[in-house]
Amino acid sequence: SDSRSAVARAGVILLAVKPQQIYAALGVLQSVLKKNQLIISIAAGIAMRSIETILARRHPIVRAMPNLPLTINEGITAWCANSAVGKAQKRIAQNFLSAGAMTCEVKESQLNAVTALSAVGQGVLYTFMALLLEEIVALRVPRAAADQLVRTTIAGAARLLQQSAHTARELAAHVATKGGITEAALKSVQRDHFNRLITHAVRAAYARAQELSR
Ligand SMILES: NC(=O)c1ccc[n+]([C@@H]2O[C@H](COP(=O)([O-])OP(=O)(O)OC[C@H]3O[C@@H](n4cnc5c(N)ncnc54)[C@H](OP(=O)(O)O)[C@@H]3O)[C@@H](O)[C@H]2O)c1
Repeated sequence: SDSRSAVARAGVILLAVKPQQIYAALGVLQSVLKKNQLIISIAAGIAMRSIETILARRHPIVRAMPNLPLTINEGITAWCANSAVGKAQKRIAQNFLSAGAMTCEVKESQLNAVTALSAVGQGVLYTFMALLLEEIVALRVPRAAADQLVRTTIAGAARLLQQSAHTARELAAHVATKGGITEAALKSVQRDHFNRLITHAVRAAYARAQELSR
């Protein structure tokens, strides 16, 4: 098949199939895969050990967790390599993963936490923005203007944090003038246990990632 002949000529094989398709994909490749060909897997929740179990041998594997802003060159990809990956292969992997994303090498045991961060930092943030939009529209700002205001406020706040020497907590304190409007908002979310909401969301995402990678 096509993928078999492509693999026969490749130095690096990128596994970008859905997690549940990985066993079938590796099954097809197994007989043509040579033991020095680096596998880079982006399948969420599939442990490097599981890939080696399918191949029934030690094999150089890099596991990476990209995120969606990769599509606009603003991604961040956490990755790890097993001990079969040589120095040169590690450099190749790092170079490859740097296209469109910052990279961050972690231990495999930390990848599920990164996945939880990605889930909350994207899914929960977008939901927060959708709710914020509805509230601003309810205060009689036209939807188109409110939409632009929400997108740009959050994007600007995120960019400012990224370029700032201050922590997120320090920036929050900085914008919350005593007796002011931001302080009123912060006191309100504190009363409503914002921290508990975030703790629960992160733990739920982490638990699900653990479950899927079992
Ligand atoms: N989107 C993200 O931000 C993100 C972040 C981290 C990780 N991931 C991971 O990225 C992976 C891909 O996700 P996706 O949403 O892009 O999935 P997708 O759109 O379903 O793409 C999977 C691709 O794999 C191909 N494929 C399936 N079985 C194959 C086989 N046996 N041999 C060769 N190719 C095969 C499919 O081809 P056909 O269409 O011809 O079947 C399809 O092009 C997933 O494992 C996901 O967990 C995504």
